[in-house]
Amino acid sequence: MADASAIAGAIDSTRDGADGGKFLEKTERVLKRFGRKRENLVPILQHVQSRLGYIPREAMLRIADYLGLPATEIYGVVTFYNQFRLNPPGKHPVRVCLGTACHMKGGYIVLDAWKRRLGIKQGETTPDRNFDLDTVACVGCCSMAPVTVVDKRVQGNVSPTRVDGILLSYFLKKGRKRNRTR
Ligand code: FES
Repeated sequence: MADASAIAGAIDSTRDGADGGKFLEKTERVLKRFGRKRENLVPILQHVQSRLGYIPREAMLRIADYLGLPATEIYGVVTFYNQFRLNPPGKHPVRVCLGTACHMKGGYIVLDAWKRRLGIKQGETTPDRNFDLDTVACVGCCSMAPVTVVDKRVQGNVSPTRVDGILLSYFLKKGRKRNRTR
């Protein structure tokens, strides 16, 4: 039996809310394809994430029950592997490169600037779900280091002040769109 209360506090940053039923339904569909074996845990998590965009609390608890594992073990695996997300994806993914060239040219300072400006930590999504923030290894544009990829668009030579500029251009674009629809 999964220890639901053990992870409830630890993962309260996941916001399943009213989506819980929908998450469970999709998780069930994934589980039907797998046997109740411990070695299926990572593939199950991968399939759930590809359907839901992240691993919500409801899904973790259901997987724990299905495999007969403690919920804390599921949570441990989800947080151990970078590929898994605990938060829903934002509309605009922000990926700060921390590969060698970007790291040498201040990638961590750029990451800090994004964290401050968006008010979230790495791996989180803004409350309005507009942006999510994460890091990547080299994206193949080292001559432009330090690099941030926003909406799959590579932004080179990013400094903390450019972070402001990139965000401002996003808000201006959004404002123009809103005006056009009035
Ligand atoms: S290390 Fe960042 S693009 Fe290569």
